[in-house]
Amino acid sequence: MNKFVITGGKKLKGTIRVNGAKNDALVIFAASLLTTQPVTVDNIPDIEDIKKLFKLMEKLGCKIERTGTSKYKIKTTQLNSHLIDSDIAKKIRASILLTAPLLGRFGRVRFPHPGGCVIGERPIDQFLDGYKSMGAKIRIRGNLYEITASRLKGAEFVFNNITVTGTESLIMAATLAKGRTMLKNCACEPEVKSLAGFLNSCGAKIVGAGTPYITIYGVDKLKGGVHRVISDRVEAGSFVILAVATNSDITIKNCEPGHLDALLSSLRKAGANFSVGKNSIEVRPSRLNSINIKTHEYPGFPTDLQAPFCVLLTQSKGSGLVHETIYEGRLTWTEDLKRMGADIHIYDPHRIEIKGPTKLRGREAESPDIRAGMAYLIAALCAKGKSTINNVYQIDRGYEKIEERLRKIGADIRRV
Ligand code: EPU
Repeated sequence: MNKFVITGGKKLKGTIRVNGAKNDALVIFAASLLTTQPVTVDNIPDIEDIKKLFKLMEKLGCKIERTGTSKYKIKTTQLNSHLIDSDIAKKIRASILLTAPLLGRFGRVRFPHPGGCVIGERPIDQFLDGYKSMGAKIRIRGNLYEITASRLKGAEFVFNNITVTGTESLIMAATLAKGRTMLKNCACEPEVKSLAGFLNSCGAKIVGAGTPYITIYGVDKLKGGVHRVISDRVEAGSFVILAVATNSDITIKNCEPGHLDALLSSLRKAGANFSVGKNSIEVRPSRLNSINIKTHEYPGFPTDLQAPFCVLLTQSKGSGLVHETIYEGRLTWTEDLKRMGADIHIYDPHRIEIKGPTKLRGREAESPDIRAGMAYLIAALCAKGKSTINNVYQIDRGYEKIEERLRKIGADIRRV
């Protein structure tokens, strides 16, 4: 198993480029199953979660060809199965994104409860209730769900909980359904808007994506299409936090600052020194004061940036309360941050208080999920001495060749 060995405590300098968004790429690949014509997707990061989704799609009969450095062509004419491979699906939550397109293509889909990051309970009731409201029948056979519907019918559906992949799945299901579907209390994340843009370019009729109200007028079929995946806002945000926490001079390029409003406004309040360009953010050294953060669906403070921000709070003056509202398992990793010297009080699974600034000490930690893995990396770069991060597969799931990119801005990091 690969690990990262990091010697921290250095200031970093230079430019780092942001890749395409994992969570946009995953849903666009899944959506390509809705058409029998070829789809070309560009700006795809070379990461483990994408490779897992490719394997799942190939097992269903899709042909995926790499046609450029980060460009792929997907052909689904030979799609021949409605069974989502259990071994792979249990490792990746995004496997659930294949359910709606398979329902659209075959009128049936069989799949296990999806796996992925262990960050809390991740039910799929909203997907099931949504499909049911559109006329689907759901059976549970052993460990598998089986959903059938000869053709889904347009419906009105209100999400009980805001879910990104749930919103994306019902958009995809409604695209080939008969009649009009109205979705309420939808996720407003940029990835949802990007998906709707792609599907509309293939002939779908989706209005309102990016707002809580989305209307989809079902069509009989879609044509193929071309799509460029949006820049990864979580990767960009993680790099900004890394730069601020290590008090470095770093320019983050190829990002979409407009997707990071909540983070940038929190950083401004904490006293971080940075300037925002059209597609870049330049970070300069600063003195930080602690602030409180509360995670919230987009456009609020992203849960995916909560862990890196906790590290930043260990380097800020004063006390900051972190309130994780979306997942009950996303603060447990801070036990290891405490072992690195952080002053953290855990009130309950959703709330912690961090006092700073504290000098972090290098040590060994296990990466439990993608975002906590990135947070350990940032902590290790802030810390004095040597740190080892095990289970870097978790980091590779979401960040392409991270050690090579960090070395270019002066980080002392090796993969062993
Ligand atoms: N929820 C339900 N019922 C459902 C679905 C979700 O109650 O049927 C609740 C969950 O319990 C949770 C909230 O809704 O409280 C959102 O959870 P969900 O697991 O549905 O999130 P998601 O849509 O699967 C996406 C991203 C996550 C990101 C969240 C929140 C993808 C592939 N994943 O997950 O990304 O944390 O939205 O913004 O788009 C990551 O990239 O590291 C990651 C975990």
